[in-house]
Amino acid sequence: MTSQQYIPEAFLFGGDYNPEQWDPDTWREDIELMKRAGVNTVTLGVFSWARLEPREGEYETGWLDEVISLLDEAGIGFFLATPTASPPPWFTLAYPDAMPVRADGVRLTHGSRDTYAISAPAYRNACCRIAGMLARRYGVHRRLRGWHVHNEYGTLDFGPHAAAAFRSWLRNRYGTLDALNVAWCTSFWSQRYSDWEEIFPPVATQYLHNPALSIDFRRFSSDEMLAAFTEQKREIQRSSSAPVTTNFMLPTWNHLEQWSWAEEQDVVSIDHYLDSPGPDGDAHVAYGADLTRSWADGSWLLMEQNATGIFADGRTYTKTPSRMIRNSLGYIARGSQSSLFFQWRASVGGAEQWHGALVPHAGGESGAFATAERLGEILSSIAEAVEPPRDSPIVDAAVGIVWHADGWWALETPHLPNDAVTYADEVRATHRSFWRAGIPTDFVRPGGEVNRYRMLVVPCLYVTSDGVADWLREFAARGGTVIVTYLSGIADENLTIATGGYPGRLRELIGARAEEIHVPEPGEVVPLASGRTGSQWRERLVLEGAESTDEYSAGPLSGLPALTEHRLGEGRVVYVSTHLDQESRDRFLAEQSALAGLSETVPGAAERRVEAIRRRGRDADYVFLLHHGTDPVKFTGDGRDLLSAVNLADGLTLAAGDVAVVRVRGGEEVRVVP
Ligand code: GAL
Repeated sequence: MTSQQYIPEAFLFGGDYNPEQWDPDTWREDIELMKRAGVNTVTLGVFSWARLEPREGEYETGWLDEVISLLDEAGIGFFLATPTASPPPWFTLAYPDAMPVRADGVRLTHGSRDTYAISAPAYRNACCRIAGMLARRYGVHRRLRGWHVHNEYGTLDFGPHAAAAFRSWLRNRYGTLDALNVAWCTSFWSQRYSDWEEIFPPVATQYLHNPALSIDFRRFSSDEMLAAFTEQKREIQRSSSAPVTTNFMLPTWNHLEQWSWAEEQDVVSIDHYLDSPGPDGDAHVAYGADLTRSWADGSWLLMEQNATGIFADGRTYTKTPSRMIRNSLGYIARGSQSSLFFQWRASVGGAEQWHGALVPHAGGESGAFATAERLGEILSSIAEAVEPPRDSPIVDAAVGIVWHADGWWALETPHLPNDAVTYADEVRATHRSFWRAGIPTDFVRPGGEVNRYRMLVVPCLYVTSDGVADWLREFAARGGTVIVTYLSGIADENLTIATGGYPGRLRELIGARAEEIHVPEPGEVVPLASGRTGSQWRERLVLEGAESTDEYSAGPLSGLPALTEHRLGEGRVVYVSTHLDQESRDRFLAEQSALAGLSETVPGAAERRVEAIRRRGRDADYVFLLHHGTDPVKFTGDGRDLLSAVNLADGLTLAAGDVAVVRVRGGEEVRVVP
């Protein structure tokens, strides 16, 4: 467990700065605008490789020296990126074998970014060389805040270098081919391997791949990228003691096993982009932030967000100023030490010329820039909150949602009973319900530390490793509530199904078993006796100690149990055998939370669509109030809003879209005026 605390002197504000796209006059204007907005941090060099090393081994750093000295004079700190996400064109010609091969066998070439074969020795060496050069040159600069290695690791390679590295990863994991053959169940379809060289990454083949091979390839790819990261980190650490991070990204794809990656970060950082312009965007902020805080087990950095746009389904919607501020504070409330953006100034050319920025195409005299200035003021008024508490979590959550990349990857192996079910949908729907109820949540690694929780939710934990059932049983026996959903406990780490009924490895825990799965048709509603509805999945359950708490009320399983409860020691294990629709899930999890004695951070706030989060600080706590709704809401209690300087005792009215950060001490409380 990492338990990280990254404690700058104030919240970091700024973003990716790409001066190589601009002339020196614009740099000077940039610095003036940064000072105006209160920017204290930029990230330099994320995509600067071609500019820093225009020909192999020849470095040109004069331009960067000049930019850094301008920032230095203005008192602005910087993260320095290693530019290895975007090898320059000369690299392709010199090392064509270091270009990635896609699963369909096509070898890519330069022209975009992220085009590298992660296992190619030429690529790895070139990365270490340029990282080392940068570290030697800038590693002890007084304004250096940290190292931003690479950018969003995530290019999968299926080519010959990857094949060789995959084989040695497999040797290491299984020791012998016999063990691999058993683990992968290669007796199916005549796949028995008699030489390591016979094994390939899951490249185009006639029909389905072996799921065990597919998931191992995902694990290998994550480990291989992590090895590339740690190589650069070690190279940097020869000349610099500044903290090292790489920015994670969690959109609709996920190529990293974040728990193991987090252990290698001095501070965990993430890029986060909303995927919907509607109210769900606010829940998405909380989801990204809670995940990252949990990976970090402490404070963390928001490395990028979009200042002005929300990209969804081929359109960029305008992010309102209110949302920009609410979302920025949403991350901070949940443990971020920064509000950094991609990017500082909107590009006029290149592939992302239409991407939002703190300085839009309209320039510094614009509404968007005024919003950036407003955010700068807000962050400076809440600077005291940056110090995390000494001995307690930065956000206190009593619910842990069990999360692991294995679950994501397992559900992506094709030909499950219902391929429409995705891990991300199930996990996000669960998190969304707690968010809507105003109940703080963490994410938990299977087998992790759970003493601080009263409830664990286990959504679609298809891969259930040895020990996880005992871990959950002990949690329940000590008085905890465990909520397990369908598609959990199905298989071991090799995706071998546990026989005797689903959820195989968790059958005794839930006190029931499913003999059959009855997948509904697309769009089919699965009604339950309680009035709840589900979809996507249903199971014929046989009770073995648990009791039924809700039944299917129509269809092939009408009258049979759909939800069950099993008393274990002092606690309870609840099983949900269908994919509950969002409204039903909201009600169900709110009821379960009430039974487990969980309460809303500020009772009554969520109903008025005010998100309330309590971030703990060194000497006080800070209750962030983010008003996502439409009608004014009045608060009372103790404490003082650091933004308006209003004492809560005098009544604080939040207009729709507004925000407050209330400093409270000891037992002071914030309450909604009914
Ligand atoms: C991020 C990436 C940035 C930029 C941004 C656009 O994932 O790190 O470089 O491309 O997306 O939203």
